[in-house]
Amino acid sequence: MKDIYIFGIESSCDETSCSIVKNGKEEISTVVSSQISIHKHYGGVVPEIASREHVKNITLVIEECLEKAKMKLEDMDAIAITYGPGLIGSLLVGVEAAKTLSYLFQKPLIPVHHISGHIYANNLVEEMKFPLLALVISGGHTELIYMKDHYSFEKIGATLDDAVGECYDKVARIIDVPYPGGPTIDRWAHEGSPSYKLPIPLNDESFNFSFSGLKSAVINLVHNEKQRNQEIRKKDLAASFQNVVIEIITKKTMKALQERKVSNLIVAGGVAANKGIREKLTELCQQENIHCVFPPLNYCTDNAAMIAASGYFAYKKNRIANLELNSKSSDVLN
Ligand code: KG4
Ligand code: ZN
Repeated sequence: MKDIYIFGIESSCDETSCSIVKNGKEEISTVVSSQISIHKHYGGVVPEIASREHVKNITLVIEECLEKAKMKLEDMDAIAITYGPGLIGSLLVGVEAAKTLSYLFQKPLIPVHHISGHIYANNLVEEMKFPLLALVISGGHTELIYMKDHYSFEKIGATLDDAVGECYDKVARIIDVPYPGGPTIDRWAHEGSPSYKLPIPLNDESFNFSFSGLKSAVINLVHNEKQRNQEIRKKDLAASFQNVVIEIITKKTMKALQERKVSNLIVAGGVAANKGIREKLTELCQQENIHCVFPPLNYCTDNAAMIAASGYFAYKKNRIANLELNSKSSDVLN
């Protein structure tokens, strides 16, 4: 069978990235240009700055990716692009670049949903086995998705308010940890003890999540301690917060696996890098005989390899867009 090379582009938030992936599973080259050091000064991503940085970086990233692979755009079978969801200005830069390349080199244009990209990052680790449950935990999403086959997405639960990564970043900010705070909170959680009491949010029978109440509980706790002139034990607070997150996420994930009678779990998104969540899910899945896959850390946060991997399966299904493709800040995964 002929090898299929997909050129992927991702620019939905604060990473400009390009990647070449062979047959949906073999990464040939990936370049990620992160803007974290710029947005850090503002405590979060500033959309206008993000778009401008993508404009500055996109051509360089495309060229570097091709150089690294010693390949040309002529060698590609298709161009896969994150069309949404994300920051509209940021998405637009990638979509316009992809459309230009598609037109110039006469290559099919494959629109990829950002979350589908996060899910398919796992196919770069090992071939996905169906049916599976995908736990998507990132800065913008917290979802449980059932897949009976490739490109069949059934959302069975989602956050009703903040995403879990967003909650990590906001809690981090309250205790003066720079953006993105998730990795630091994760590290501190392993050094502190969970001695603060925090509520377990939306601890019900549904597969939905809620994190804004937990964030408010942390804000109130910090204010109360300050008013009483008490020093905040930041590492203990990180441990207490992370314990609650792990508790609710693992509880609902394990219940969904059981109810749907699924024995394959994949974890996706930036928060899939979380050591505490990895440890607990690995332990529970071992107990229940569930095959659990986590992407390596470089495939957890935004990158174009995951977009190219997902793009391969979309290409196989003939999901091709024309040059009228537009970016969408929000869109249903289907
Ligand atoms: O998937 P991603 O790169 O962007 C979105 O699509 O949203 O995820 C970024 C999010 C940030 O909120 C960041 O704080 C969080 O992932 N994150 C973590 C960890 N590493 C990254 N959260 C908790 N623990 C981590 N180790
Ligand atoms: Zn993402």
